[in-house]
Amino acid sequence: MSATIKKAVKAQKTPKIKQTKMLINNKWVDPIEGGAFETYNPATGEVIAKVGAAGAKDVNLAVTAARNALEKGPWARMDAADRGKLLFKLADLIDANAEELAQLETYNCGKTITDSRGDLIGTANSLRYYAGWADKIEGRTVPVRGNFLSYTLRQPVGVVGQIIPWNFPLFMLAWKWGPALACGNTVVMKPAEQTPLTALRVGELAIEAGFPAGVINLVNGFGETTGDAMVVHPGIDKIAFTGHVETAKIIQKRAADTLKRTTFELGGKSPNVVFADCDMEQAVAGAFHAIYFHCGQCCTAGSRLFIEQKIHKEFVERLAAKAKQRKVGNPLDEATEQGPQVSQEQLDKILRYVDIGEREGARLVTGGSRKGNKGYFVEPTIFDGVRDSMTIAKDEIFGPVVSVLPFKDMGEVIERANNTNYGLAAAIWTKNIDKAHNYARAIKAGTIWVNCYHVVDTTTPFGGFKMSGQGRENGETALEHYTELKTVTVNLG
Ligand code: NAI
Ligand code: MG
Repeated sequence: MSATIKKAVKAQKTPKIKQTKMLINNKWVDPIEGGAFETYNPATGEVIAKVGAAGAKDVNLAVTAARNALEKGPWARMDAADRGKLLFKLADLIDANAEELAQLETYNCGKTITDSRGDLIGTANSLRYYAGWADKIEGRTVPVRGNFLSYTLRQPVGVVGQIIPWNFPLFMLAWKWGPALACGNTVVMKPAEQTPLTALRVGELAIEAGFPAGVINLVNGFGETTGDAMVVHPGIDKIAFTGHVETAKIIQKRAADTLKRTTFELGGKSPNVVFADCDMEQAVAGAFHAIYFHCGQCCTAGSRLFIEQKIHKEFVERLAAKAKQRKVGNPLDEATEQGPQVSQEQLDKILRYVDIGEREGARLVTGGSRKGNKGYFVEPTIFDGVRDSMTIAKDEIFGPVVSVLPFKDMGEVIERANNTNYGLAAAIWTKNIDKAHNYARAIKAGTIWVNCYHVVDTTTPFGGFKMSGQGRENGETALEHYTELKTVTVNLG
């Protein structure tokens, strides 16, 4: 944990909101046509601010600013190492303001203050990792036939439109800004309509860090308006999106007319497989964390929990005992383990799935209800006796609801684990290394965890097989998605 956060002051009752406008060309401006929308505290359901909503004309201004910065501004001529320096500076400013940002994140997103503090560390780390890459993005010389010199250049894709979700507002911002800016692109970002506030505060820090005008632009608003205006805009060269599979399908269609590059990081229904030869204590804690971390609002949530028959009964009992003890409540309270879901819409969606689970004949072991009548809290929920064909075993619920599926052996569980349109993550709990590596090889998913879960680091590629995504974020790989490759051939006479 960073020193700044260790010294964290006790979380305040009402974090301060400093910025609600749009950031275009390093100026804070009101929308000219989009109006405003309300944003909430999910712990109470109360409106906490009105935020500027960008219409198509506003998006156009942001794109124009980003285009000018890309082609004419100091950014275009800046040494790569100096782009890195700006990212390092921004990371330092985020560290210096981490506690304020963590509290604001919790206030608007509902994640526990402990989780928000963790996200802030990850946010700064991610920016630093890509800051280090800025002057290491290299081309190659290629041994072509004939008396020619051929070499490749990696150049920015251009103006990048980045559309992010509400579950990790600042973390997602860093994953998108880091590689884009290290590679010399300029950015128009749309945060999620549920969580518009922390990105704006980081926008202020980006100006303070010294990013030239137009390099980073922030437009808030809804997907069907602001987001769509970005997707169809001919001045945007690439859309990087994280969110729902159905939204990605719309974006891909809407981006077709301009043949924009697109990268997608989408949902999952990740299989978490527990063998009888696991360390039981570790596996129970791991399966618990896999589903309940951030109220199940993770694209990698371990929502299909396959348990070997021999230990199935005991495992479920131990998991249920933990679920019943979980402290659900005010996310600003340091003792709280689980905060509210992000919105009324998500709360309703989760409760609808609980209903479907019961109607289709799964056994509700614990939870299943809303907690309290204020805010969007849901009890940690376990369904046992789930069959692969049931809706709750197939759909992404995005809440604290786990489906337990007993299994007999490796061959069977691999087939069942892969029987999904998703392929984001998977885990296995066993002390047998043959099993672990065979499983890792056989599962069609972008991330495999062995005896751990949700271990995600900026240094390693992250993304999905099948309908869980296109392209990879993080690691060196992300740089490929933020650069165009150019071949230069010189006649040597
Ligand atoms: P969403 O995919 O609608 O929203 C994500 C982002 O896309 C937001 O910024 C939104 O404004 C934008 N967006 C929505 N429609 C758009 C459009 N037509 N054009 C351009 N941008 C658009 O996800 P939503 O509605 O917030 O959540 C629905 C479900 O999606 C969740 O219940 C969950 O299952 C899944 N989800 C998955 C996430 C992940 O990390 N993979 C994150 C958030 C949601
Ligand atoms: Mg949506």
